Amino acid sequence: MDVRVSGVRKEFDRFPALHDVSLEIKSGELIALLGPSGSGKTTLLRLIAGLESPTEGKVFFGDEDASLKSVQERNVGFVFQHYALFRHMTVIDNVGFGLKVRPSNTRPAKDEIRRRSSELLDFVQLSGLEKRYPAQLSGGQRQRVALARAMAIEPRVLLLDEPFGALDAKVRKELRRWLREIHDKTKHTTVFVTHDQDEALELADRVVVMSQGSIEQVGTPDEVYDKPNSPFVYGFIGESSRLPVRIENGTVWIGEKSLGLKADRPDGDGMLYFRPHDVELVDGSNGCIAGTVVASRRVGATRRVELMVAGAEERIEIGIDADHPATELSGIAFRPRHFRVFARD
Ligand SMILES: Nc1ncnc2c1ncn2[C@@H]1O[C@H](COP(=O)(O)OP(=O)(O)OP(=O)(O)O)[C@@H](O)[C@H]1O
Ligand SMILES: [Mg+2]
Repeated sequence: MDVRVSGVRKEFDRFPALHDVSLEIKSGELIALLGPSGSGKTTLLRLIAGLESPTEGKVFFGDEDASLKSVQERNVGFVFQHYALFRHMTVIDNVGFGLKVRPSNTRPAKDEIRRRSSELLDFVQLSGLEKRYPAQLSGGQRQRVALARAMAIEPRVLLLDEPFGALDAKVRKELRRWLREIHDKTKHTTVFVTHDQDEALELADRVVVMSQGSIEQVGTPDEVYDKPNSPFVYGFIGESSRLPVRIENGTVWIGEKSLGLKADRPDGDGMLYFRPHDVELVDGSNGCIAGTVVASRRVGATRRVELMVAGAEERIEIGIDADHPATELSGIAFRPRHFRVFARD
């Protein structure tokens, strides 16, 4: 099912949690909503679910305006971060719950509910645990039951709000892979919320980067990582270094020196952004960024050095080969392989 969010604004007591958000989700896509705390991810998910209604704008399911439809009518499956399973129900009864509470004309027979529920438990690899109660499961197992429960109603859209947020790093990683496999088999249109960039980049077909109630960028993991379209996205996804610069005649300058880089914006002050590891070291000082090493440390397979660059107040970081003999106060010159210049704020 295609989902289209069109010009949505959401206020809570005049506080705008979302401003003018538009987003098109294609049928069968796995979409991640990624952003810092308070950026509006849960609010957007709840609006798609029908748990909130927009102050302005609309939500479409296919061609149909879903804005005035209830959660049940939209037929969405939802997994919340802290939404506990029903404690007094066994695992299998939890999974079948959404079917059991349907009105009698659409409710499957008891046996059919049981059959479907155990099929789903098998699918989420929890066969054998049907009769357990939620308290007798691990956190990861509980979230898998929650996912099976969300899928039991054959939802048109599956919405997951930080489904693995409360679990430890190792279990999260396993469940991440597993969710991708499940998605590839079921092809449910799925929107999941996370503030973990690794999770979003590894799992999603497309990533929606949010900040302060707005969408900053939508793109494939490669697009948002390789071509961030704002300083926010540069800083939020992956690592970034920045350097205040000036644009003159379409090239980038620091102080009185041209860096030999072509600028992609009009003349004036700007801020140069690049990835610390995406640089090439060069000889001499012509047409490159020259700095003095003020700190150097080994980080995994590379060496991370902090440089003071003449004409810049901030130190900047670059990543170089671990065996580079960078010592304090030695000089290093480099050129970023990819960069963007944005307005200076
Ligand atoms: N029911 C509500 N009443 C008032 N303000 C709300 C309500 N729900 C959310 N907000 C506010 O809207 C903004 C966005 O909240 P939201 O829960 O969507 O953020 P989030 O991106 O999911 O954050 P987190 O990563 O912490 O879960 C926040 O400033 C929050 O305080
Ligand atoms: Mg949230």
